[in-house]
Amino acid sequence: MDKHIVVVGAGVAGLTTAMLLSQNPRYKITVAAKHMPGDYDIEYASPWAGANYFPVSVKGTPAAEWEGNTWPSLENLARNYPEAGVHFQGCEVYNRSKDVGSVTANWFSELLSPTPWWKSLLPDFKTIPKTELSDGMDSGKSFTSVCINTAIYLPWLVSQGLKNGVVFKRAILKQITDAAAPGMHHSGKPADLIINCTGLGSLKLGGVEDRKLYPARGQIVVVRNDAGKMYGVSGTDDGDDEAMYIMTRAAGGGTVLGGSYQKDNWESQFDPSLAIRIMKRCVDICPQLTNGRGIEHLDIIRHSVGLRPVREGGARIEKEKVNGTWVVHSYGYGGAGYQSSYGAAQAAIKLVDEALQERARL
Ligand SMILES: Cc1cc2nc3c(=O)[nH]c(=O)nc-3n(C[C@H](O)[C@H](O)[C@H](O)COP(=O)(O)OP(=O)(O)OC[C@H]3O[C@@H](n4cnc5c(N)ncnc54)[C@H](O)[C@@H]3O)c2cc1C
Ligand SMILES: *[C@@H]1O[C@H](CO)[C@@H](O)[C@H](O)[C@H]1NC(C)=O
Ligand SMILES: *[C@@H]1O[C@H](CO)[C@@H](O)[C@H](O)[C@H]1NC(C)=O
Ligand SMILES: *[C@@H]1O[C@H](CO)[C@@H](O)[C@H](O)[C@H]1NC(C)=O
Repeated sequence: MDKHIVVVGAGVAGLTTAMLLSQNPRYKITVAAKHMPGDYDIEYASPWAGANYFPVSVKGTPAAEWEGNTWPSLENLARNYPEAGVHFQGCEVYNRSKDVGSVTANWFSELLSPTPWWKSLLPDFKTIPKTELSDGMDSGKSFTSVCINTAIYLPWLVSQGLKNGVVFKRAILKQITDAAAPGMHHSGKPADLIINCTGLGSLKLGGVEDRKLYPARGQIVVVRNDAGKMYGVSGTDDGDDEAMYIMTRAAGGGTVLGGSYQKDNWESQFDPSLAIRIMKRCVDICPQLTNGRGIEHLDIIRHSVGLRPVREGGARIEKEKVNGTWVVHSYGYGGAGYQSSYGAAQAAIKLVDEALQERARL
């Protein structure tokens, strides 16, 4: 029998889950969201992401499993589906001893480790010899990963859902049961199951906050200059919560210069001084950006700010019965929403299948 599912949220979490769920012809899916691909809003994290695959989850945690399970899908897209806007890129990641204990070094710890769990997962993993390290770097590694052009990739996810009959609609939900109300699902029937992919949205809703959620503000500069490679460094000399990374998006998406990781900071406007520090750090580590001519020769497309939806203790993938309707929660992916998207969606879908089978047996 057909099952009516409402997915709340059209970020990378909701869209990936809807796309994979729609491969089961019994599942009739509506995606209901306040923001859709094409929107740029501080309440919508996904468009602002770089985004790349730089695994950061600690070995042995569910999050590491989701990240590990995501690589094969992203690799397949980069290799075989150019229309998705995902491409391979060489990467260099550096560790400085003076960053030990800083916010960004802690966030990046698995990325900086000499023996990360993903060492044999990503192609071309090499330790950079000490003699080849630039001043100030204590160790380094290189590997190949992917960079996602979110402006192409999010609409591509929508198109994959549309092909399988997923219906997308705008809606602002006040509470979870709104999603089960008749009329929210495109069939007109009440939903059999709701998937909550609302990111930071649930914190902003009055009355029903998951208090474990908080924003980690990321500011970036998008430029037309080409870096040729992706870079990441354990920290900066400009403050504990500032970060250093570079990636060039596929298909003319420009180069993203990052960044920051500012906990509990909700500011949606860009900080011009921070932007200058970001550009200086990036040009220092990658002079190729302006052929050694300094930040004055960066060709800026835009300044951007996004809020990573972080959840203390990690993202939540759980099922729960709310007022008689099954709800599968899938939110709180912090700075790793893309690189864990397929693994997380697979884990959520397992709960969907379980809940609907259980329902069928009753
Ligand atoms: C600067 C920056 C750089 C990043 N770089 C990377 C990277 O390189 N790699 C990576 O993997 N990740 C990266 N991230 C993290 C990534 O962007 C997030 O983890 C991811 O976008 C979260 O997706 P989501 O679908 O959970 O939430 P969101 O994209 O925020 O989507 C939430 C959805 O829920 C909807 N919604 C919320 N509340 C309601 C409501 N009440 N009613 C209806 N709809 C509602 C919203 O409208 C929206 O559609 C970065 C983030 C930032 C800010
Ligand atoms: C980074 O380098 C410092 C100094 O060599 C070291 O103490 C630290 O453990 C390294 N970080 C990781 C995550 O391995
Ligand atoms: C999603 O789940 C969170 C945490 O349980 C809850 O606070 C929020 O209301 C839910 N969002 C929606 C739109 O139902
Ligand atoms: C559950 O139903 C009760 C009674 O109809 C209602 O008052 C309450 O708000 C509902 N709870 C949620 C989370 O929707």
